[in-house]
Amino acid sequence: MLLAGALGVLGAITAVAVSVPADAAASTLGAAAAQSGRYFGTAISANKLGDSAYTTIANREFNMVTAENEMKIDATEPNQNQFNFTNADRIYNWAVQNGKQVRGHTLAWYAQQPGWMQSLSGSALRQAMINHINGVMAHYKGKIPYWDVVNEAYADSGGGRRDSNLQRTGNDWIEVAFRTARAADPAAKLCYNDYNTDNWTWAKTQGVYNMVKDFKSRGVPIDCVGFQSHFNSGSPYPSNYRQTLQNFAALGVDVAITELDVEGASATTYANIVNDCLAVPRCVGITTWGVRDSDSWRSSQTPLLFDGNGNKKPAYTAVLNALNSAPNTSPSPTPPVSPSASPTPPVSPSPTPPVSPSPDTSPQPGGCSATMRTINSWPGGFQSEVTVSAGSSAVNGWTVNWTWPGGQTISSLWNGTQSVSGSSVTVRNAPYNGSIAAGSSTTLGFTANGTAATPSVTCS
Ligand code: XIL
Repeated sequence: MLLAGALGVLGAITAVAVSVPADAAASTLGAAAAQSGRYFGTAISANKLGDSAYTTIANREFNMVTAENEMKIDATEPNQNQFNFTNADRIYNWAVQNGKQVRGHTLAWYAQQPGWMQSLSGSALRQAMINHINGVMAHYKGKIPYWDVVNEAYADSGGGRRDSNLQRTGNDWIEVAFRTARAADPAAKLCYNDYNTDNWTWAKTQGVYNMVKDFKSRGVPIDCVGFQSHFNSGSPYPSNYRQTLQNFAALGVDVAITELDVEGASATTYANIVNDCLAVPRCVGITTWGVRDSDSWRSSQTPLLFDGNGNKKPAYTAVLNALNSAPNTSPSPTPPVSPSASPTPPVSPSPTPPVSPSPDTSPQPGGCSATMRTINSWPGGFQSEVTVSAGSSAVNGWTVNWTWPGGQTISSLWNGTQSVSGSSVTVRNAPYNGSIAAGSSTTLGFTANGTAATPSVTCS
């Protein structure tokens, strides 16, 4: 038992998304979040990638990265039609080469526009926005799981739109941005991201909720809503936060906490926030807006999980403990591939199964199928995507299997929980993507060490 436990923890450190039992606590935020199929991320600044104290913590603790400024409009298109991805790529490459994913932030926003865009209006600005979305999304096509397509489009009070040059091009600018984004990279999940949308009773929250509801009813492509969650005395953590996340998720979108910081970093508040996300199956992950307090855009509020010396604060421990207490999520009772050789003990059934486990292992009508493709590769590593498709009837809970041909090892996996036995990999659905409608599909992704390979994948 001791050996199994030790191996489980080791596995969690070396492969952040490995599934570990609820009693084998993970020791980093990313590994702890991965136990329930979620990620834990941070904002990263390109100009700090040379600071080894910074990169050591960031690399160890987080498995999702958001560029703090480097993918914004002024950074990626400083002159009209001249795209510059130098610093964005520095962050992207650092993240992926360290087994992390990247959230794209952000494509259409009233702030941090380059001067040329600030001075545009009307159809010229509308066309420039479309061109910008196309240019940036083409550069990262297939490589970014979540894009903040539109940021901060709602006014602070009243529940209506914020005035901006983009808003003055016409109220449909947001849906045009989302439709453009869908066509530019169909694999990316498209998010609306905002602040002060955490309290369910606030008019701004209702305004955004009504927009998402309207988009869903009219088929405007939107997949997720980001809650920045910059909490402070003027905008405190609300007791109805969980209700807000739940209500948005019920519209059929993923929700994520995208820029979390809490003035004073109360351990209790941080734990409450994590527990709220864990209680909502479609809350896919949490990102804190910086690594150490000294890295924060609001450093005087000391709002993060590490102090300026890189020490773990009480809030860090509270977050880690909350993540480690999450119910283990194993949607299917399928036995491990090879119990004798598996370093991962069998997982216990989830107390709140998101899907109904079926003891019947015979193929379901219509069944499912899966294919793997390489998205990106570099010396010694690669990133792949597996598409899981339902046949002529819906799938409720899926498991895919493949065998590595040449000693490849997964460093990070998302949208599923994996167990590995030698060269054989088994991935089950995450709590939020087990149900696939007839004729539809979902994707999981991973980064791996070794030479890129695309073995055949079976699905059950
Ligand atoms: C902030 C960055 O942290 C700062 O470095 C920059 O000077 C301004 O922008 N909402 C957002 C983020 O969506 O992009 C903002 O980031 C913080 C508020």
